[in-house]
Amino acid sequence: MADSLKRTILITGGSRGIGREIAIKMAEDGHTVFVTSRSAEKLDDLKNRFPDSLHPIESDLSNQNEVNKVVDSVTANASSLDVLINNAGSLIIKPFKDTSDEDWYAQLGCNLMAPVRLIRSLLGLMKPGSHIVNIGSMGGFQGSSKFAGLAAYSVSKGGLSLLTECLSAEFVEQGVAVNCLCLGAVQTEMLNAAFPGLKAPVNPPEMADFINNFALNGQNFFNGKVLPVSLADPK
Ligand SMILES: NC(=O)c1ccc[n+]([C@@H]2O[C@H](COP(=O)([O-])OP(=O)(O)OC[C@H]3O[C@@H](n4cnc5c(N)ncnc54)[C@H](OP(=O)(O)O)[C@@H]3O)[C@@H](O)[C@H]2O)c1
Repeated sequence: MADSLKRTILITGGSRGIGREIAIKMAEDGHTVFVTSRSAEKLDDLKNRFPDSLHPIESDLSNQNEVNKVVDSVTANASSLDVLINNAGSLIIKPFKDTSDEDWYAQLGCNLMAPVRLIRSLLGLMKPGSHIVNIGSMGGFQGSSKFAGLAAYSVSKGGLSLLTECLSAEFVEQGVAVNCLCLGAVQTEMLNAAFPGLKAPVNPPEMADFINNFALNGQNFFNGKVLPVSLADPK
């Protein structure tokens, strides 16, 4: 690949599922990829596959100090950031009446505050033409069908959708696009935990292909969009 087409990318939650496939495909395509997860072992496995282009960052994104670790590592090792994919997500499934404040803070911390903190801290590294892609959920897409037990998760993802719209307006002058992809069912551990036995129409490599293409090119066509990425009728 020509050097001018090589991008520097940060992908959160790259130890498994969709994020791992995104990281692998980006690295295979010759991009420089920073990947976060709480699992050092799984990150080491990725690093061994791509020793030159992949930079693992062990971090629990629900903890502000650990988000700072990500920022410090990217800032120390890259002069600019072209693509930020806020993919890491956690899901607590519990009837609303049984959810504790801790459950809510945990969902909002990982799914909403971590993207807030990363975007705020890394925006200075993003030049015109850069792209922030927030990975939302159909559960957080306004007007979609909702499911019992997913209030905290869906609210955190709904917040991410709104954050996308707000920041896209604020970053216009800087030329940084912000979009949110609201995913439908993809066959991962998270889906299996939330909907045991459900057969998803899409697997992680297929979704990663779509997300990578969007992350690398979507900023030329979309800004501030909250896009449903689902075969199911949202209503
Ligand atoms: N699969 C679906 O059907 C579906 C549908 C709608 C939206 N999504 C969204 O798509 C994204 C990827 O989901 P997935 O299905 O691939 O999930 P997954 O297989 O459960 O993977 C989640 C990833 O997020 C990371 N993560 C979770 N909590 C974290 C924390 N506190 N700090 C740092 N990293 C954390 C995990 O890494 P470690 O555990 O190693 O830290 C892992 O790499 C998520 O944002 C999810 O909400 C998925």
